[in-house]
Order: sequence, then C-alpha cells, then structure tokens
Amino acid sequence: MKLNNQLLVCSIFLLSIFNLNSNVDAKIRHYRWEVKYEFKSPDCFKKLVITINGRSPGPTILAQQGDTVIVDLKNSLVTENVAIHWHGIRQIGTPWADGTEGVTQCPILPGDTFRYQFIVDRAGTYMYHAHYGMQREAGLYGSLRVALPDGEVEPFSYDYDRSIILNDWYHKSTYEQAAGLSAVPFVWVGDPQSLLIQGKGKFDCSKPGVAATDCNATNPECSPYVFTVVPGKTYRLRIGSLTALAALSFEIEGHNMTVVEADGHYVEPFVVKNLYIYSGETYSVLVTANQDPSRNYWAVSKMVSRNNTTPNGLAIFNYYPNHPKRSPPTVPPSGPWWDDVNSRVNQSLLVKSHPNYIHPVPKTSDRVIVLLNTQNRIDGGIKWSINNVSFTLPHTPYLVSLKQNLLHTFEQTPPPDVINGYETYNISEVAPNVNATTSNSLYRLKFNSTVDIILQNSNTLSVKNSETHPWHLHGHDFWVLGYGNGKFNATEDPKKYNLVNPIMKNTVAVHPYGWTALRFVANNPGVWAFHCHIESHFYMGMGTVFEEGIEKVGTLPSSIMGCGDTRRFIKP
Ligand code: C2O
Ligand code: CU
Repeated sequence: MKLNNQLLVCSIFLLSIFNLNSNVDAKIRHYRWEVKYEFKSPDCFKKLVITINGRSPGPTILAQQGDTVIVDLKNSLVTENVAIHWHGIRQIGTPWADGTEGVTQCPILPGDTFRYQFIVDRAGTYMYHAHYGMQREAGLYGSLRVALPDGEVEPFSYDYDRSIILNDWYHKSTYEQAAGLSAVPFVWVGDPQSLLIQGKGKFDCSKPGVAATDCNATNPECSPYVFTVVPGKTYRLRIGSLTALAALSFEIEGHNMTVVEADGHYVEPFVVKNLYIYSGETYSVLVTANQDPSRNYWAVSKMVSRNNTTPNGLAIFNYYPNHPKRSPPTVPPSGPWWDDVNSRVNQSLLVKSHPNYIHPVPKTSDRVIVLLNTQNRIDGGIKWSINNVSFTLPHTPYLVSLKQNLLHTFEQTPPPDVINGYETYNISEVAPNVNATTSNSLYRLKFNSTVDIILQNSNTLSVKNSETHPWHLHGHDFWVLGYGNGKFNATEDPKKYNLVNPIMKNTVAVHPYGWTALRFVANNPGVWAFHCHIESHFYMGMGTVFEEGIEKVGTLPSSIMGCGDTRRFIKP
C-alpha cells in the first residue's frame, strides 16, 4: 500500500453510536501512519530519529468527544519492534488498544501493520508516544487533542487553540543508554544535551569535539519554534511534557499564564509566571498577547529538580506582524532555581478541580497500598524498586496471560501492600534495602473497589539526595488527595486529604523526600501499567501493574498476540 506522507484523515464516516454522554453522531478519525528511522537534526545535531510519516513530533490527532480514533500503524523500523500508547485515554472497553508492550500487547514486528481503535470519551489534552523499550526518547511521540461535543462550551474563553510538546533530547541512541543502565558497573544516561519545544532545540555546534558534519547551526530543522500571536488575542496553549528525564519550568517572557486544564480536567483557574510541568503531564494555559507589540518575546523551558548542565530551550513568542525569526531584544529569562522544591510543591497544591466540574471523590477507600520508592543495588547494578520489587516486563503480555489463565508466565506472589518494616524505614538516609529483588509480579484489585495509593519518596543511593518522580497511571484518572513532606503518617495525614475539590489527573509528581496520595476506583476492566514517567527510571524497574475485572474483558483481538505464550492462540 502506498502511504501518504501527510497527516491524513482519510475517511470520515458518520456513525450513529449511542455513547455514554450523548447520542449525537460520532465520527471515525482514521489515520495511516508509517513509523521509520530517519536522520534528523532537531537540535542541529544529526541523529537517527523515529518518525511518523516523516515527522517528529508526529501528526497531531484532532478528534471530538465520542469519536472513534483508528490508527493503522505500519512498522517500517526494519529491525525493531514498536508499540504506541495513547497517554490519558482510558481505553474503556478496549484495554487491548492501550499500546503498552508486555502489558496489553505483544510488540508490533517490523513490516507489520497494527490497527489501534478506541473511543476518545472525554474532551481534553492528551498525547501519544512509543511504549516499547526506550523508544519514546528516540522521537516517537505527538499530541492528541479531543474537542467538546458540538454545543458544549468550555468554562473559559479564548480566540485560538494550539498544542505544543516539551521534551528533552539526548544524542546517544536509546540502545547505548539502555545498555549502560543495565550494565555492571552501572552507566547513567547523564543530562540531556538539549531541550526541545515542539521538536526544536539548539545544541551548541561550536563545542569542542563536535564534528561539523554532525552539527549544523544553520539547519532549518533546528530554527527555533515560533509561536505567532495577534496583539490583543487570547491563546489557549496546550502544553504537554514527554521528557525522558527532565522536570521542566516553562515561561513566556513578560506574560502571565492562567492555568485552566490539567490532564483533561478543568482546574480552578490560577495565574503563574512559570509553569512547572513533569513528564506525562498536560496543562492548558491561557495567554493574552497584551505586551508591547513592536517586538518579540522569548518562551523558555528550563530543567529543574536536578543540578544539570542542560541549556534552556528557547522558542520565539512572535507578535504579528513582526518578523517571526526576529530575536527578542532581551536576554531570555533564566527561570527558577533548579533546587527550589518549595515553589514546585506550592504549584502542585494549587491544582484543584474547577468548582463546576467536580467529580465527587469516594469518602473512604477499600484498600490502601503504600508504595515505597527506593533506589537499590541488585546483582551489582542499580535499580529502582517499589516495595522492594524492581519491576520487569514479562514476555507474555499480562492482558493475555490473565484473561487466558496462562499464570505460569509471570511471578504469582503479588508485591506487598506495604513493606515489612515500613514504620521504621528511614526515608532520609541511604538505606541498604537488602531485600530488593526484580520481579514481574502485579497487584490484582477487586473490581469496583476504591483504592488509595500512597507514593512515598526516599533518599537515593547518594547521600542527601531525593528525586522528583512523575507517576502515570494507565486506564484511569485518579483524584489527587494530597502531598506531604517527609514520611506518610497513616493516622494523621489522611485527615488532611482534600475530599472537597481534588483534581483528577493521570500523572502526578512525587516531590523529593515527600509523599503523594491518590485514590481511584478500579472500574475499568483490564490490566494497567502504573510507573514513573522518567524513561530511564521505568527501564530501571520503577513501576508496577494493576489488574481489575479481567473476567469482564471482551474477546481479545488476535492482533495483540504473537509473542511468548500467546503463540498457542495463533492458528497455523
Ligand atoms: Cu505516557 Cu506508560 O506512559
Ligand atoms: Cu522516577
């Protein structure tokens, strides 16, 4: 089949689908994507990048609430598997379309075309990205934007709507990084070489040791991203972060931003000068072009939460009709201090549900799982563990093994709801955590039960160091009940939970030495990954998986099979 190189909505059929929210006509949004490696220079440095139809970031998916999205994904990576996850889409009724290799599907083999088909059931700002190995950071990602149904309006107004994705960028291949992370002795990936704004950054090609054939500062691929605005107009800017490592602060010189949406939920609006955003999060902000229109301004992303050497990412906030490439006359804002934990925690605390869109949170829960996040040495390597379990993916995807009772394909003893000795565990010190092991065990949740998760941070293997971890849950939104500093106190802290107007999100930060409490209802039949969204952390074991209502999952499509023990279901 000849594939078109453009973002292509190749057919829109009118269907009469009776869905949960309305019985208006829903559409099918049909995309055909070809995934392949190409040489690109997103930050002026030439590298093999995974593209979709020739692009990275890939095409933006535009749909309306209730629509069916179909993506026919052709894997043209030649010698590499692939899988794509639709980040923030809950996949209600289609758990096999979540795109999580090892959890909900087998990898898509080179040459194969896999069909993802799912309903986007709620308006909001979402993303998609590779979910196989560390492919996401090779450039396989993009935006997914779901509009309200006709006739419904947002609780705020704006003139124009734009999506951007913030990212960080490494020059080494994912293979080199992955090999280092699993090596003994361990080799850390280090700081990213640059920060990208909507796929564009700038690496300093004049650095010693950089060959002119590899780095060309005048390559148009790395000209700064330009955001053109008309004076006086208000823009809804949908900002997502898919960094491999970096926590970011984003700001537009001289302009305040009003935060109105987080992970697909309306927030009680608040104004910021700089927005902190962690990998896996999305926010909508409103920006009004109300400054001196005779010049352009800088938009800046800055890496925070780790002491780092990564230069800030720069884009141009261009006031029409100034020339879009005209550099602002000012020095770009330098952004907040990387170690200002308090201002990051304070911003997390500001994110509450919009008063008119509160999803009432169950007042109590049926089960509390305390997940202690630690860094460990296992067999001479360095890993991350959750309750002393460093997670590994099985060869047979859980969705198939649980549905078809192939229980020998993964470790059956579930990880603990709280570790033995949690009471006396000192989160402020380097702990030996001698009990840590690697395992592919998972948590099985009672269908429809309400589950609390307490994510407890701790000191890493380095003295006086604790990191920020953005945790992302597949298949659900959760209520963010609270954040705390230090060790979670099971009798006192729940009294301070926000049960009035907690925001619902799919990704939330766990701040250094702190805890974050979430609640969700296990009402989406399927198997769902829950993990730190830092690519190298998940690779090092920082994640787990929840199963709920597996018996309610419909017949699995054979397209997700083909690996491990699923081969028994493939008819010769
Ligand atoms: Cu966006 Cu499992 O991740
Ligand atoms: Cu992490």
